[in-house]
Amino acid sequence: AKEYENIIVSRPGNGVGLITLNRPKALNALSSPLFEELNYATAELDGDNEIGALVITGSERAFAAGADIKEMKDKTFADVYQNKFLENWGKLATIRKPIIAAVSGYALGGGCELALMCDIILASPTAVFGQPEINLGVIPGGGGTQRLIHAIGKSRTMELVLTGRNFSAAEAESWGMISRVVKEGEGEVVKEAIKVAEAIASKGRLAVHAGKEAVNAAYEMSLAEGLRFERRIFHGLFATQDQKEGMSAFAEKRKANWSHS
Ligand code: CAA
Repeated sequence: AKEYENIIVSRPGNGVGLITLNRPKALNALSSPLFEELNYATAELDGDNEIGALVITGSERAFAAGADIKEMKDKTFADVYQNKFLENWGKLATIRKPIIAAVSGYALGGGCELALMCDIILASPTAVFGQPEINLGVIPGGGGTQRLIHAIGKSRTMELVLTGRNFSAAEAESWGMISRVVKEGEGEVVKEAIKVAEAIASKGRLAVHAGKEAVNAAYEMSLAEGLRFERRIFHGLFATQDQKEGMSAFAEKRKANWSHS
């Protein structure tokens, strides 16, 4: 197994890969080395047949307090442009298996953007979200302006990006940015995220991949294109063993035994 310095990878449940961001002294600031490890670990879990879903979490105090400001401070335009700074963050969005963000504490700047890159967000009541980049003389660079618009609409996104004010788990829930706030208590949000991940991991993998792909297509296509895309993928699943098994199991009143083929 690979040695990591900034994350911890574990397998806490049936078919679940858990990645815990682990730079406590910097409130899990997303340094380049951390993100490289995150990309490596997610790609490895994505290719692991034993794994059906991933969870990314931080600590009780911080999911992640943003990109690493100390690392960025002295960079020039030439540095960031030539070296495609943050471009590798996009790799996370190419992972096929569902990723659940379990957010406690600060999810600011890149931390909020990391959560938005995940497929499902669960938050503890203590979660504090925000895009404070405006206070640093920049704007979000990890997808914040684009993904927030889809999640919560233009007016709220403008307000948050231009004032840099933090927002609560309750606000994020009422705006539909996260799927829900879990009950209070240490470790609760991770426990709940693992439960959701186990539920997903217990399904046929091909259908899960197809479902994620089709839902994500809605971000990039018109309604007509998206509906056509959905129907084609739906049709395609009739070529799988899991479709035969799933529908036979229903008719025979038994539990489906997925072969993921
Ligand atoms: N980068 C680097 N280090 C960070 C950090 C960050 N984003 N956030 C926190 N830290 C470090 C602090 O510098 C501090 O380190 P030292 O002990 O060595 O001084 C340590 O973590 C603890 O932080 P604080 O002492 O500040 O803790 P606090 O409880 O007083 O405040 C906080 C917590 C409100 C989250 C505050 O740390 C903060 O405002 N952090 C920065 C948040 C931010 O601006 N994020 C956006 C970054 S830019 C970005 O993300 C760009 C993008 O879109 C990709």
